[in-house]
Amino acid sequence: MAIRALSTLPEPPTRPGNGHLQDWALSPLPLIGEGAARARAAGVDVFRLRLGLPAVVGVGAAWNRAVLTDLGTFRSAGSLSRIVPYLSGGVILSDAPGHAGRRALMNPGFGRAHLLALQARTRAALPGVPGGEFDALAWADGAVLRLLNAAYFSGEFDAGLLHAFLAPLRRPFPVPAIPRPLLFARVDAELRRLAHARLTGRGHDDLLAVLAPLPGGLEEARVSLAAAHDTTTHALAYAIWFLAQHPQWHAPEHHAAVLKEVLRLFPPGWMGSRRLSRDLNWNGVRLPRGALALYSPYLSGRDPALWDRPAEFDPGRWAARPPAWAYLPFGGGERLCLGMHLAQMLIHDTLGALPPLRAVRGDPTPLPGLTLGPRGPLMVQPTPASP
Ligand code: HEM
Repeated sequence: MAIRALSTLPEPPTRPGNGHLQDWALSPLPLIGEGAARARAAGVDVFRLRLGLPAVVGVGAAWNRAVLTDLGTFRSAGSLSRIVPYLSGGVILSDAPGHAGRRALMNPGFGRAHLLALQARTRAALPGVPGGEFDALAWADGAVLRLLNAAYFSGEFDAGLLHAFLAPLRRPFPVPAIPRPLLFARVDAELRRLAHARLTGRGHDDLLAVLAPLPGGLEEARVSLAAAHDTTTHALAYAIWFLAQHPQWHAPEHHAAVLKEVLRLFPPGWMGSRRLSRDLNWNGVRLPRGALALYSPYLSGRDPALWDRPAEFDPGRWAARPPAWAYLPFGGGERLCLGMHLAQMLIHDTLGALPPLRAVRGDPTPLPGLTLGPRGPLMVQPTPASP
């Protein structure tokens, strides 16, 4: 079979002079939705984007599986995380063969057994909800800040500094990509202060106590905090909004399915990026070394070839298992989200503590920035419990 060039792949409409860059920056969801539709119409599972360098986005389970398991070919060094100082470091940018060893050192601290030891502390840190109308997005933001401070630092990190550190992440591009050496230096100094207490004293079993003794442990703490905050906030805010709209699902036995459904439709990590370390023959198309290779939990979660009634919010669908490599809100394989169990624990505990709610008004339109989240506000109100 003759090998075709990348340029023969379907692509969404381009704009003169800048290819897809403008739409990528201003409205990427319609852009990738159109690319996926054209790929399907052409009977292929990848489409291309012109982002200043060759880029290819996959739309099927086979592509997701390749990106997430062939770690020699699909490399994180040189991925889009590289341009965001918050995410440019630690395990996020490390690659095979070193990556697995690094994760092996970190995974136990973020595993279920260790998290159980922190749960009483994180539950105690959870703020109450206002008695009247409130914005679930703003509330989730503050709640997650406190929960992460409790889990990582037993609540000892300067709360104002933690807020100042994480606030730029929520702003549109290019704000999160701007280097902030002074702010990062203050955060690192605070991390060193708290790490010192953990390395020299006894009695700390929080996440910093796990990370501090590891090589590069303080950088891992800083980078993973940045990966943790907006993702967890957005997932929690959407979950609260849907529970307020569909109160029949607001019961502890349904919360796991609600969270899964929220993450299918609105995965905060909407696009994962890698760089190709070699030329790759993908179903007869030559994808060149150095190309950007993207997989999208957002596209996969809404793929009509993979899901029945994909646009419908239906936690009931989770009575059955999803198709393999179709549901990737936490990525997959060796690079599976380090904080998956932590995020699930924090969100489930928060939902479990919420009173009955009703949705008042809001704008849940997904806005893709560094992470995908609701435009907001999402105004909800506690309702009196039924007698
Ligand atoms: C609902 C909340 C969260 C979502 C949806 C989420 C999503 C993801 C996704 C999709 C990836 C894979 C990215 C890729 O393949 O390029 C990832 C990786 C990662 N996440 Fe999360 N995340 C969440 C919460 C957290 C938390 C709480 C932490 C705190 C530890 C965290 C730390 C990380 C790290 C360090 C990685 C990189 C792992 C590696 O490359 O080995 N995340 N996350």
